[in-house]
Amino acid sequence: MKNTYNILGISGSLRNASLNMLFLRAMGRVCPDNMNFEIYSGLGAIPLFNADDEDKSFPEVSHWCNALARADLVLLVSPEYAHGVTGVMKNALDWIVSTGILIDKPLAFPNISIRAELAQSQLAETLQTMGCRLIEECSPRATLAAPYVIPDATEHMLVDHPDIGPRLKILWSNIEHSLTASP
Ligand SMILES: Cc1cc2nc3c(=O)[nH]c(=O)nc-3n(C[C@H](O)[C@H](O)[C@H](O)COP(=O)(O)O)c2cc1C
Repeated sequence: MKNTYNILGISGSLRNASLNMLFLRAMGRVCPDNMNFEIYSGLGAIPLFNADDEDKSFPEVSHWCNALARADLVLLVSPEYAHGVTGVMKNALDWIVSTGILIDKPLAFPNISIRAELAQSQLAETLQTMGCRLIEECSPRATLAAPYVIPDATEHMLVDHPDIGPRLKILWSNIEHSLTASP
């Protein structure tokens, strides 16, 4: 068992007021001491994927690959656009298809949207095809009665919220359990 685990938070939205990013920032506020939680900020800088360029060296792609390789677990949240996965998320993943970096990588994959489910299942299929090990108990689905974010809230408001704050902590506890239970 390790003393500290590296968790990489990834949001499939680049929007300033992104609810997915808000969720990750709130998770960062309640991160346990033995988790080193980094929110990936370089997704928007990754060039458009072109299979002709796969052997070329792009610093933004290397940075992305290194961050994933370091992670003991990936905490990924991503919105639905037009019943599909966001382009920014899919583009970033296309760069790593042939690397094998995600093989057996534990994946926490919450869906913080109470409406969207098509993109979630499409992205789950892609991530699992690439080798991710999706951990069900770390992949909750938000509902109207059990949300993970509130529009226009700050991460402090989410953490202090009587229901959402504990929900975030339960997710960390499930993440911790899944990592410590792994061989
Ligand atoms: C271009 C675009 C397309 C969208 N398509 C859908 C959709 O098909 N289904 C859905 O539930 N929400 C859709 N939405 C709403 C977003 O999922 C919602 O605004 C979400 O909060 C975006 O994530 P973010 O807050 O992290 O940026 C769409 C939003 C945009 C900007």
